[in-house]
Amino acid sequence: TEGEVAKTHILVIDQGTTSTRSIVFDGEARRVGIAQAEFEQHYPEPGWVEHDPADIWRDVLATARDALHASNLTASDLAAIGITNQRETAVVWDRITGEPIHRAIVWQDRRGAPRCQELKADGAEALVRSRTGLLIDPYFSATKIAWMLDHVDGARTRAERGELAFGTIDSFLLWRLTDGAVHATDITNASRTMLYDIHRACWDEELCRLLRVPAAMLPVVHDNAHIYGTTAPDLLGAAVPVAGIAGDQQAALFGQACFKPGMAKSTYGTGCFMLLNTGDEAVTSEHRLLTTPAYRLEGRTTYALEGSIFVAGAAVKWLRDGIGVITHASQTDDLATRVPDNHGVYMVPAFAGLGAPHWDPNARGAIYGLTLGAGAAHLARAALEAVAFQTMDLIDAMAADGGGRPAILRVDGGMAANDWLCRFLADMIDTPVERPADLETTARGAAFHAGLATGVWSGLDHLARLWSRERCFEPTMTRDARAPLVAGWQEAVRRTLRPHR
Ligand code: G3P
Repeated sequence: TEGEVAKTHILVIDQGTTSTRSIVFDGEARRVGIAQAEFEQHYPEPGWVEHDPADIWRDVLATARDALHASNLTASDLAAIGITNQRETAVVWDRITGEPIHRAIVWQDRRGAPRCQELKADGAEALVRSRTGLLIDPYFSATKIAWMLDHVDGARTRAERGELAFGTIDSFLLWRLTDGAVHATDITNASRTMLYDIHRACWDEELCRLLRVPAAMLPVVHDNAHIYGTTAPDLLGAAVPVAGIAGDQQAALFGQACFKPGMAKSTYGTGCFMLLNTGDEAVTSEHRLLTTPAYRLEGRTTYALEGSIFVAGAAVKWLRDGIGVITHASQTDDLATRVPDNHGVYMVPAFAGLGAPHWDPNARGAIYGLTLGAGAAHLARAALEAVAFQTMDLIDAMAADGGGRPAILRVDGGMAANDWLCRFLADMIDTPVERPADLETTARGAAFHAGLATGVWSGLDHLARLWSRERCFEPTMTRDARAPLVAGWQEAVRRTLRPHR
């Protein structure tokens, strides 16, 4: 209304694999308030990973309220809400009660492996590849949804009757935030189900039949910057438009302002995901990378090549919670520098199988080269080195695909705060590593989308001007010094893949 100051603050809900964060950004994309909560992981069987959607919903509300409080704002001060999320994780809920029929099956969960094996044996890979840009792997949502429909009493019939809804976490949260009024998602999340045609931009009926997921349970798909709906006023104290949604990795690419073909980012969270902007062209990889929508604005899709690594920060979490060799994740920086080299110790963090470029759901984590001289510092170092080696493998695969090597790699996510890791990474990929001032790039990307949809920012040029660099790590290692390290890594990967092949 006239005389009213335009609202420019955006609240982003960043629902990740191990924690939920709410962050408030101002009109200059500066963070003004943040709240975070870690939540419980359920591992009911080896290779299975589940989340309780009730925990996630509880933390979303609590952190959103706390972040507003920390910013000295109320919901009525917000221009919009953006949502970004761990991708692929599947929730199925009852459309009437809003209650999930099962715990969410998480992206890391491998229970769909036998079904994927069957699909591959039946020769379905080419079809999946050409329509979805994905490979057949239990990582994606489809086999998780089918598993729930087959294992929860009566679920399949109810899904066919349209009584159940499927959503990735964004979609589940949108449903809850709008009090059941909106069942929708964005193109980046839809594209990770193995059911979505990324070229025609629609759900694919043939794939739905093949993967046994009734189309009646799927959400409507929109652009990333879009007014999806409005929050029920009692939840946060006022009705706020939800105006941007993107899967966390695509959001990070957007938040890193990688808007031009050839620009790439790598995000170090629970896993590590590297995306290379390929512009209007959906490039098909010859080296087992994924083709994925990066964003869709005003009906126009920009694509990316993606390398997905399932374990990065999760290996550090395992060092802390699994075997207790460290008490804080930040200790790894210190430990890694305390030893002059890796002492021949290599960790292949296949805790959830291996993703790109190997795609082996049955591989399991391994540590090689232990001698009596190896200690906690070497394990910590091996965990960090593995992150860099895996990124190197992705860059090599992208280059071999003809996309060339990115001139610069932008990094973000919690582990990117680790200087030692950034330096070692620059050396292994022999490419400068750029670290932005704001490492919460994922949330920033969702804020960018929500701000575009509500006129806080005018367009991509405006957003690119909001990005700033904190530091650049130049490669310094010689080829001769690098070669034995790389050879040691490659041998470790070979041994990890070999036993069950
Ligand atoms: O594809 C899974 C990815 O979206 C998870 O991201 O940040 O929780 O490692 P993150």
